[in-house]
Amino acid sequence: MKLVGLVGWRGMVGSVLLDRMQQEGDFPLIEPMFFSTSNAGGKAPPQARHEATLRDAFDIDALKRCDIIITAQGGDYTTEVFPKLRAAGWSGHWIDAASTLRMKSDAVIVLDPVNLPVIQNALAKSRNGGGRNWIGGNCTVSCMLMGVGALYKAGLVEWMSTQTYQAASGGGAQHMRELLTQFGTLNAEVRGLLDDPKSAILEIDRRLLAKQRSLSESETAQFGVPLAGSLIPWIDKDLGIGKNRDDEGWGVSREEWKGGAETNKILGQGEGFDQPAVPVDGFCVRVGAMRCHSQSLLFKLKKNVPLADIEQLIANDNAWVKVVPNNREDTVRQLTPVAVTGTLDIPVGRLRKMAMGPEYLGAFTIGDQLLWGAAEPLRRMLRLLIED
Ligand code: HSE
Repeated sequence: MKLVGLVGWRGMVGSVLLDRMQQEGDFPLIEPMFFSTSNAGGKAPPQARHEATLRDAFDIDALKRCDIIITAQGGDYTTEVFPKLRAAGWSGHWIDAASTLRMKSDAVIVLDPVNLPVIQNALAKSRNGGGRNWIGGNCTVSCMLMGVGALYKAGLVEWMSTQTYQAASGGGAQHMRELLTQFGTLNAEVRGLLDDPKSAILEIDRRLLAKQRSLSESETAQFGVPLAGSLIPWIDKDLGIGKNRDDEGWGVSREEWKGGAETNKILGQGEGFDQPAVPVDGFCVRVGAMRCHSQSLLFKLKKNVPLADIEQLIANDNAWVKVVPNNREDTVRQLTPVAVTGTLDIPVGRLRKMAMGPEYLGAFTIGDQLLWGAAEPLRRMLRLLIED
């Protein structure tokens, strides 16, 4: 039985990961060894068997004992520990939620319902000394490909433009708390007026705006500006690629860059592969949803394919994707973050040909950012390694 080190299992992604491993009966298949960055020597959670004490997550010798390490501890931990562990001669499998290693040439971005052939190819190479680093993708990219990966697999996509509506959870647990606190603060500000049915809506709006604009530094510590009742059209770092505004990639956010780079890497296209990259670009926007990332997609297809064929292709791609009929009632019931949160469903709806021409396809898709967007691809990779 493989000894599997678990790091970062107490955080938000780690907790979802543990829940899913529990639900799917993964623990009886492994010998778990729980690590901690702050409580070494403490008691391991109930899933532990022989290794009942928490190990120090910075103890390279303890980590070296593991056949597989799965971490949701975050990028700083990976940056600090991973190179030391490999330098110490460890040749086990490293499964990681953080983006640190994603674009390295010896790392595979794992999303097996979409790229099992890419994973299997890399697994075969890993038996002969190839890379053993299996990294979960960016959440928007993973959720999007779970929904519309079929179009890529069928070679139909000439390019894709994405407009995202990303939940607070993408920033982390503190971001979710900040959003909810802001909602409460804003509600409290106009509570009296709201309770009075005769109050003027423009007075409510004026007071609300004044409160949003005067939120303190501590009330906006995570997002930097108010999110409740607003949105933020920039996610992650400012890459500032290129010197001139006409340069390719000028003014792109890191989240937007990931959309193109990771989509192609997951599919085994672009740099380092035989297939050319498909252009993927758009704008990533933070909205006041809790943990579901939504995306509006525009495809330029390589040919005019009937809509019914496209719906069938998408619906048959994997067990989790659900085509939502493109009508008002089904859309408002099934295609919202509230409907999808906490499920592994990936609804794809609003499928229609656009006014630009029959090769232009519109779609809208949603995924739980903590499930398919983070924890699920990792535990499924663990399963593949256990069964290998
Ligand atoms: N970068 C994503 C976001 C989350 O901020 O929503 C992690 O993939």
